[in-house]
Amino acid sequence: MAVTLDLSGKRILVVGASSGVGRAVARTVVEAGGHAVLAARRAEGLADAVASMASARGQATAQVCDVTDPPQCRDAVQGAITQLGGLDGLVYAPGISPLGLLKDAGHEDWQRVFAVNVIGASLVTAAALDALEETRGRAVYVGSYSTRQSLPGLGLYSTSKVALQGLIAAWRMEAPGVDFTSALLGNTAGTEFASEWGAEKTAEITRIWIERNLFPAATMMRLEAAAEAIAMVLAVEGFIDEIAIMPRQADVSASGS
Ligand SMILES: NC(=O)c1ccc[n+]([C@@H]2O[C@H](COP(=O)([O-])OP(=O)(O)OC[C@H]3O[C@@H](n4cnc5c(N)ncnc54)[C@H](OP(=O)(O)O)[C@@H]3O)[C@@H](O)[C@H]2O)c1
Repeated sequence: MAVTLDLSGKRILVVGASSGVGRAVARTVVEAGGHAVLAARRAEGLADAVASMASARGQATAQVCDVTDPPQCRDAVQGAITQLGGLDGLVYAPGISPLGLLKDAGHEDWQRVFAVNVIGASLVTAAALDALEETRGRAVYVGSYSTRQSLPGLGLYSTSKVALQGLIAAWRMEAPGVDFTSALLGNTAGTEFASEWGAEKTAEITRIWIERNLFPAATMMRLEAAAEAIAMVLAVEGFIDEIAIMPRQADVSASGS
């Protein structure tokens, strides 16, 4: 049985939508008839994403927001609610993944990764809470399978994603009028996830993985597959508390072949 995603008239704020998973989720929402506000720091990336969705069934608009800046979180969420006339769903996709060993990580590295991956998620949720409660809305957070199995060099990232899961559980207890979902994602192609890693650091960390027989990512899934599963959480009637979206063995090889 084929199920067609229908988000007709649903008002969804997608944070972290200038590239990668967030952008693909926004596209899926708009193609399914929803109205998405796309938020992130890069205005050009947002404008390009919105323009690429011009012929879709629903509508897309943009809202600049740096989630590490509390006033911007408040203003951007309020701006989105005003543009949409209410809020049925929030998708929180921002995530940064500095590559480096824990023994080399300083206070600023920890602050940076927690500011985006955890604290921003809570600030955005707090700003959206009243509007989500009004509609018995959904809030979906993009987490990572690395919470199940970390790797040398990704400790800051996986620790922050474990904290994100704790945050979701805490919000669920404080705000029973909203449905909170954790979407654990496996390796996904076509994003800017590793764009800051640099060749030297990547080679250093990859050497450790090879020496220790750790095989992080044999395959990667298509961006659209991840986006469809996340958007599905917004579309179904039942409450989904956690989903894991993983590449198959037969998906694209992580080395691109
Ligand atoms: N790709 C994977 O294999 C994979 C696997 C597991 C989990 N994930 C998770 O998927 C999510 C999306 O990552 P991605 O792979 O799509 O990477 P991406 O292409 O780098 O997307 C990250 C998004 O987050 C936004 N962002 C970063 N810092 C921000 C800030 N301070 N304020 C607002 N927005 C910010 C970026 O926009 P701006 O730079 O314009 O702000 C961008 O839109 C992340 O949470 C990541 O942890 C990815």
